[in-house]
Amino acid sequence: MRLEERELERWGEQIGSTVRAPVVIALEGRLGAGKSVLARAIGRGAGVDIAMPSPSYNLLFRYTTPAGIDVVHIDLYRIGATDELWELGWAQLGEGPEIVLVEWAERAETFMPDNYWVIRLTVPDDEPLLRDVEVCRVGLPPELPPFPMSVSIA
Ligand SMILES: Nc1ncnc2c1ncn2[C@@H]1O[C@H](COP(=O)(O)OP(=O)(O)O)[C@@H](O)[C@H]1O
Ligand SMILES: [Mg+2]
Repeated sequence: MRLEERELERWGEQIGSTVRAPVVIALEGRLGAGKSVLARAIGRGAGVDIAMPSPSYNLLFRYTTPAGIDVVHIDLYRIGATDELWELGWAQLGEGPEIVLVEWAERAETFMPDNYWVIRLTVPDDEPLLRDVEVCRVGLPPELPPFPMSVSIA
């Protein structure tokens, strides 16, 4: 599925407003692919009504919504080693009513939970304002809104 920015944001808002927490969503794609755009849209949909600055230096920001769900926005781009995951409270993530969004989840290596989504964003060579969106399910995470297509890899 190839989406414009506002379409990607609309889908993200639908994810945030409909997905059943806890859920973990890995956001993959190169710098500038749109991972943070999508993370913010999911946060907005879930009810985060303040700015969501980039967690690239802090690695993790947590937002509590009026509905009592926590949106946990993580960016592992600058993580030095997987040891640092435990300082973030990684072991407890996704236990409570949380929507956990992980940019650069690849850097968590084997420490991802059993059940999560992977949303991979790619910039097409000839279309800088569009993003190819690929969704993969690992294990049995709660359903996402039925868009775009979904491929099981586990
Ligand atoms: N179709 C699109 N979807 C998402 N972002 C887009 C799209 N087209 C252009 N952009 C731009 O690409 C950039 C994505 O930045 P960002 O979300 O911070 O990337 P990342 O977090 O993956 O490094 C933003 O400046 C956004 O405006
Ligand atoms: Mg980002």
